[in-house]
Amino acid sequence: MSERFPDGFLWGVATAAYQIEGAAHEDGRGESVWDRFSHTPGRTFQGHTGDVACDHYHRWVEDLELIASLGVGLYRFSSGWSRIMPSGRGRPNQAGLDFYERLVDRLLTMNVAPMLTLDHWDLPQALQDAGGWTARDTASRFAEYAEVMFRALGDRVRFWVTHNEPWMVAAIGHRLGLHAPGVTGLRPSLEAAHHLLLSHGLAVEAYRASGLGAPIGIVLNLFHTVPHTDSPEDAAAVVASDGYTSRWYLDPLFKGHYPEDTRALFEGLAGPLDVVRPGDMEVIARPMDFLGVNYYSPRVVRAAAPGEVSEFGWVVEKPRPGYPVTDGGWEIDPHAFEAVLTRVHGDYGPVTLHVTENGAICDDVVGPDGRVHDPSRIEYLGGHMRAAQRAIARGVDLRGYCVWSLMDNFEWSDGYSKRFGIVHVDYATQGRTPKSSFAFVARVAAENAVPGDDDADAHGEGKAAPETDTESDERA
Ligand code: FCB
Repeated sequence: MSERFPDGFLWGVATAAYQIEGAAHEDGRGESVWDRFSHTPGRTFQGHTGDVACDHYHRWVEDLELIASLGVGLYRFSSGWSRIMPSGRGRPNQAGLDFYERLVDRLLTMNVAPMLTLDHWDLPQALQDAGGWTARDTASRFAEYAEVMFRALGDRVRFWVTHNEPWMVAAIGHRLGLHAPGVTGLRPSLEAAHHLLLSHGLAVEAYRASGLGAPIGIVLNLFHTVPHTDSPEDAAAVVASDGYTSRWYLDPLFKGHYPEDTRALFEGLAGPLDVVRPGDMEVIARPMDFLGVNYYSPRVVRAAAPGEVSEFGWVVEKPRPGYPVTDGGWEIDPHAFEAVLTRVHGDYGPVTLHVTENGAICDDVVGPDGRVHDPSRIEYLGGHMRAAQRAIARGVDLRGYCVWSLMDNFEWSDGYSKRFGIVHVDYATQGRTPKSSFAFVARVAAENAVPGDDDADAHGEGKAAPETDTESDERA
């Protein structure tokens, strides 16, 4: 029998509103930046949009039944900002609030703790039209929306998350323009990052003033950055890249200032960081109760070669030779995950952590027997769960682990081409089929332990398929 996780450890699954809900035009929902972006030609895989997605808005009861049968203790989901505040400000839309009230109430009857993310990237388009995250006013609009949600659901939500992955919004949405709102430029991305962080602090302040007691935090996507070679130049590239992806968020939240080295680099390129006003950093650094960590893959970087085009002086490399990759091409290295968790603990601790997302893309197909076998996802999840366990053994205060995702869904600019779910979704029929990883996660949650490789039923589906055995042998 494998070693158990600490008592009370919370296993869960995660989703996000725009990725699953659909019902884009129902019950007074307003347009969000992802509606606009996905409907703009050329922005998403084959023009896919979240108009229908998994139709979760209508099938939420059935989807919650899946969570109940999984036996996990936590469900991380997000409220669609534009469902609550269709035009970004003013009176909230009661029909939107009602939807999340029903959802939360049912979760509680199932003994599943609701973890509600207020912003999983779906800024109301009306606020985008007024400057979006590059405008300081958006931070106040977010705090207003947060207060609406605290008032409506504060007595029932067990964990609050302000933002999901501000780096993705700032860097991918505002610097590279590959996500909504499709803005490009270092300066707008720095403005967006600052206002996202500021709005987090304002929401935390509002939450404290409300007197509510459930934990509140933010979710960051954190990379473990590794050098392409052992040259001193690549070592420096690792530090610089880490400043861009991780310290730019961790330092303000936990230390109350932007990292000096990264600030110097950015100011050299984009001019003074005059978006920061007196008092902002104190607001951003208001103590929170936990940090959510999303982790998928390590990030390999090297110094740019002389003459090579690179805004920051480094280049992101392909996965390291010898490391496996998922069907999405992302390098798999559970030790990098362990390193992320211990690093946050070491550099910013003491800090309570939740793994709020971890998972893998697999090219899943429904077999002739009507089942979906995803041994490589099981392999990925098991390896990363064990890494989390090692981090706990090394003193990291990790309280829970959420799989991304409950079900296949709209994977942003990749549309429906990438599957992350432990439940398969047939988008033509909206049929749901739990994959073999679903049984695996159910078993982990039931035993509060990751089945060992020597365990006959290691993959939660009775007799494991031969190829599964081979893969787990190789891992060991
Ligand atoms: C994260 C997002 C989540 C999902 C996963 C695969 O960056 O938070 O919505 O798309 O990646």
